[in-house]
Amino acid sequence: MRKRISTLLLAGATAIALAGCGSGGGSDTAGVAGVAEDGKITMGFSQVGAESGWRTANTKSVQGAAKDAGIELKFSDAQQKQENQIKAIRSYIQQKVDVIAFSPVVESGWDTVLKEAKNAKIPVVLTDRAVDSADTTLYKTFLGSDFVEEGRKAGKWLVEQRKDDAGPVNIVELQGTTGSAPANDRKAGFAEVIAADPKFKIIASQTGDFTRAKGKEVMEAFLKSNPDIDLLFAHNDDMGLGAIEAIEGAGKTPGKDIEIITVDAVKDGMQALADGKINYIVECSPLLGPQLMDLAKKVVKGEQVPARVVTEETTFTPEQAKEVLSTRQY
Ligand code: AHR
Repeated sequence: MRKRISTLLLAGATAIALAGCGSGGGSDTAGVAGVAEDGKITMGFSQVGAESGWRTANTKSVQGAAKDAGIELKFSDAQQKQENQIKAIRSYIQQKVDVIAFSPVVESGWDTVLKEAKNAKIPVVLTDRAVDSADTTLYKTFLGSDFVEEGRKAGKWLVEQRKDDAGPVNIVELQGTTGSAPANDRKAGFAEVIAADPKFKIIASQTGDFTRAKGKEVMEAFLKSNPDIDLLFAHNDDMGLGAIEAIEGAGKTPGKDIEIITVDAVKDGMQALADGKINYIVECSPLLGPQLMDLAKKVVKGEQVPARVVTEETTFTPEQAKEVLSTRQY
């Protein structure tokens, strides 16, 4: 049976929270549920699924960091379904965990369940992906990448590479999961940058659901209906790797006949970049576990945290990929 800290300690935590409270991030009394008497924090974590190499690395990072931080982790895999995440969050509320963390599969539709967590005084930390809730007091903080900036980085590389090219440059786009923050934001950031020159034309854009199999399938369809594709922008490495199989299957050379930009920089993607099959990768770091556990400890104690914690990331050319491949962690 979980024992809670004394009323006195709770009042103290509440007072600290009130002193430094802000909306969206920060702290407030609604999130101070207290911790077990032995000081052990229990976190309920709802993961998106296992759709990509990135996701596998992220799961490993969260599980390893929880262990290192002495946090008891209740983990569930939603298999890329929002309804499964909502069920998991409700179950964590029933189990009275100390903190809930999750990576929302899509951006919308979270208000009801987040209000239930708030009413139960269980703080919520968003990790990796955002929600579009207008009420930012429904969660304490959001830790993850700036996906719009990732899309912009992809666009900037393309604009620079093709600055002396008269065009047109025919682009196909493999989008991530429909309605997800990385798909919406990477698309927006990329489109914003290439809009500077009308020679850049997105001639086809469809979801590949962040998986290798779907990336291959959709790229095969793109190739059948578009004979003149110059470049593929894939919202993650896995879809790009599937597309490489489709391009080779169509008798073309990936990286040459069709240039490829992807996002993530997982090992398989970096290998393809080093081999010249991908031309540029925008990094998206999955190693969020340690920062997530730090934030979780703080919100459980009622301490103030920033509303947004942005992950530090870089970009890779084939030469840079060759240099770092042997030491890449994921
Ligand atoms: O939310 C992060 C994205 O989700 C990664 O870029 C992608 O590989 C994953 O499936």
